[in-house]
Amino acid sequence: MNTTKITLILDGEHHKFNMNNDDIILDVALSNGIDAPHSCQGGICMTCLGRVTNGKAQMDDPGMLSDEEIGEGLILTCISKPNSEEITIDYDDI
Ligand code: FES
Repeated sequence: MNTTKITLILDGEHHKFNMNNDDIILDVALSNGIDAPHSCQGGICMTCLGRVTNGKAQMDDPGMLSDEEIGEGLILTCISKPNSEEITIDYDDI
């Protein structure tokens, strides 16, 4: 298990914290009190969409995202884990 420094950009605010890279990004955001968008939490509704602007994330399953969207750095944070020492996810740039 490794730790990732994560930055979440939401409504123009930068939220920074550390997380285990075995954990789901949305779950950790919510447990840190961040009002991150979400609904189904199962990779279907796309409410939790964010864009990786630095670092890497991993989705075991692409959910409803197309290969093109994934290629543009879009992720569903409810099914994504960090896969780099640092990661930035922008909810505002989608
Ligand atoms: S919360 Fe529905 S796809 Fe992530």
